[in-house]
Amino acid sequence: MLMKRALDPSRMHPKRHANLPRVSKVKETPTVKTRRRRAPVIIRDMSIDDLSEVFHLGESLFTSAFSPNLYRTWDEYEVTGLYENDSELCLVAEVDEKIVGFMMGTTVEKHGTAWKYGYVVWMGVKEEHQGLGTATKLYREIENRMRDRGTRMIIADTDESNEAAVGFFQKLGFAKAGSHIWLSKNVSYRRRRKNAANQ
Ligand SMILES: CC(C)(COP(=O)(O)OP(=O)(O)OC[C@H]1O[C@@H](n2cnc3c(N)ncnc32)[C@H](O)[C@@H]1OP(=O)(O)O)[C@@H](O)C(=O)NCCC(=O)NCCS
Repeated sequence: MLMKRALDPSRMHPKRHANLPRVSKVKETPTVKTRRRRAPVIIRDMSIDDLSEVFHLGESLFTSAFSPNLYRTWDEYEVTGLYENDSELCLVAEVDEKIVGFMMGTTVEKHGTAWKYGYVVWMGVKEEHQGLGTATKLYREIENRMRDRGTRMIIADTDESNEAAVGFFQKLGFAKAGSHIWLSKNVSYRRRRKNAANQ
């Protein structure tokens, strides 16, 4: 504090001030604002006409290179099944009337208990729209809808290596409950041998 005051030029004697090295004023170049205004994101109910677009968006995200498990389990029946089961928990994010993201969930009731769970099953945001808060907006809406129905806990699962999804859920207050292990067994080999023997 003392040092700061001693060095304050306004408190110095004018002559002493004059001895200070002159700092030439650098002319500031005005910064040109190039940031493009983004169209607002609208969160709305998924409609039956959206099902194919959502399926294809998922297909572009859940590739075998990105995640073999998501790739294997994502198909058109996931979309139609969840939509048929509970369309109110199937949401899309739209920009300029184009779907840029989706979130689909369901609720699970445990018979004989007062517990009702919400389950966020699938979510995805177009790569070029990621990191802009789209999934957060989708999540806030789905959580509100789940809460309105008396959901007491919301669960979600994803690959441990999916940093974006894990980071996303943690940011929204989900605690890491433990590792989820995916097991797979290739059973096509035996069938191929059987087919070969029958030929
Ligand atoms: C996971 C996903 C849906 C997040 O969508 P998004 O719209 O980019 O997410 P948001 O912009 O709302 O991000 C909210 C928070 O999530 C976390 N997050 C998002 N992307 C992240 C990343 N790549 N790495 C780490 N954390 C990330 C951050 O904490 C972020 O908050 P911040 O922006 O203040 O840092 C998106 O990355 C995606 O579609 N991934 C591919 C599909 C997928 O893996 N789905 C999950 C399995 S079903």
